Amino acid sequence: MPERILVCVAWPYANYLLHVGQAAGAYLPADVFARYQRLVGHDVVMVSGSDSHGTPITVSAEREGVAPQAIVDRYHPRIVETWERLGISFDLYTTTLTENHYRTTQEVFLRLLEHGLLERGTQDQLYDPEADRFLPDRYVEGTCPICGYTEARGDQCDNCGSTLDATDLINPRSRMSGATPVVRQSEHYFLKLTTLQGRLQEWVGKQAHWRRNVLNLTLGWLSEGLKDRAITRDISWGVPVPVEGYESKRIYVWFDAVIGYLSATREWAARTGQPEAWRAYWEDPATRSYYFIGKDNIPFHTIIWPGMLMGYGGLNLPYDVPANQYVNFAAGQKQSKSKGTGTWVLDLLESYAPDTVRFYLTTIMPEAHDSEFREEELVRANNDVLIGTWGNLANRVMAMIHRNFEGRVPETTELSPESTAVLAEAQAAFATVGSEYGACHFRAALHEALRLAQSANRYLDERAPWKTVKTDRAHAAETLATALNVINALKVLLHPVIPFSTRQLHQDLAQEDGLLDQGWAYRPVAPGTVLPPARPLYAKIEAAPNEAAAS
Ligand code: MF3
Ligand code: ZN
Repeated sequence: MPERILVCVAWPYANYLLHVGQAAGAYLPADVFARYQRLVGHDVVMVSGSDSHGTPITVSAEREGVAPQAIVDRYHPRIVETWERLGISFDLYTTTLTENHYRTTQEVFLRLLEHGLLERGTQDQLYDPEADRFLPDRYVEGTCPICGYTEARGDQCDNCGSTLDATDLINPRSRMSGATPVVRQSEHYFLKLTTLQGRLQEWVGKQAHWRRNVLNLTLGWLSEGLKDRAITRDISWGVPVPVEGYESKRIYVWFDAVIGYLSATREWAARTGQPEAWRAYWEDPATRSYYFIGKDNIPFHTIIWPGMLMGYGGLNLPYDVPANQYVNFAAGQKQSKSKGTGTWVLDLLESYAPDTVRFYLTTIMPEAHDSEFREEELVRANNDVLIGTWGNLANRVMAMIHRNFEGRVPETTELSPESTAVLAEAQAAFATVGSEYGACHFRAALHEALRLAQSANRYLDERAPWKTVKTDRAHAAETLATALNVINALKVLLHPVIPFSTRQLHQDLAQEDGLLDQGWAYRPVAPGTVLPPARPLYAKIEAAPNEAAAS
């Protein structure tokens, strides 16, 4: 039975290029998951978009002396290009600047207001007496009260990862003028998380399938006791507050960004010509929704967004939030998008094939712990594993079929126990590898698939068809046909991780339908099939830039 699955991916701020940590931590896991579920035959919609409001955008705009829109107009197309080149298969990647998004955000706001979950209140806020304006959290810098880092931002400390309030900072200074901010009061709408606490607690208590770190962090927040949160700001860039007297304020970026998941599903439906199609993804309780995010975004997806959805009523809460840890860079320094350090995905794609990048990043997905990116390791993974374990296997077998059987997949009458065993392993892999992909254990899924490739290599080496073809043609025919069937299985098992090369291989195996039509299933290549001349699936990388520089 096909199931319906909504794949939601964190909305990146449109003021930077995408860096490798974001790709390995959210976008690639989401894509691997979506591709796996589509192969299984499930009904998948994957959405995200550029987070286009908030101080990250306005800070960039002011630094350059341009309008915030100009920043989004510059980066959004580059982000879209990144998805295309890396093969991130969104059903829709939009922005938070659409009319549909504004309408949906205001609708959610008004519904929560009607349900008594938004309340006016005043808030102490930092004010820049020189610039004569309220300072959003990000416009304030100072010393982190938790770790002592002297360049913490008012919303977050990049050193220890803590979420902060600007008023918590020690020795605060304004990024606008350098002045010491003063505290003033301002009126805002607050989301009544205190009212929602009980229901959230009950719901979170039932999410035993969440990752440990996600559950623990969420339970930690709940046990400290939720506080009502201001969801409007004294700014001019953002979704207008649909209430009289609030003309000079805007909805807080995080409130509108999470609503993006809903508005993007609506936009996707409208674009497919079935404007009501979004409902099944949000209103049918059998639909499962997955949110792929980095660990810094956990509470927004396990507490605030679920609270907003509860308050709205009738919409599905997240089924799973498989948040990842961070990818660190070899120097030991955490890659920070706000500081602009790190490796951009587009730069990597200038040097390496997308499947090489995807393959290596899958091996370092920070699923349980922080992981480390090393370009030499990318080169090694490409040469020794992607090619050494997998690409060569496919190439050798197809080349031997060409050399000895005129490119025609040989017929086999009887299978030896070794052949039966390796084919049984290939069939069983669909269950083992599939359950890892389904549980969002992508490293393990890849590892399991590669184990099958190793078995196939061992099988081939033991049976040495390049020798037996001269002495026992039937033996060689059986070996090559069997190995080719394992390769045809591996093509599917590896497809979610390396979609470009496996699609090429699907053609090179002369399969007439599409790879998706084969589905998540073992299928032998029909004897007699004529294989087109084999092309290499991957290119060996000669030397890592670092090694080249060192020698
Ligand atoms: N733009 C935020 C960030 O980069 C993430 C927003 S995710 C969403 O950290 F929930 F708002 F969509
Ligand atoms: Zn800190």
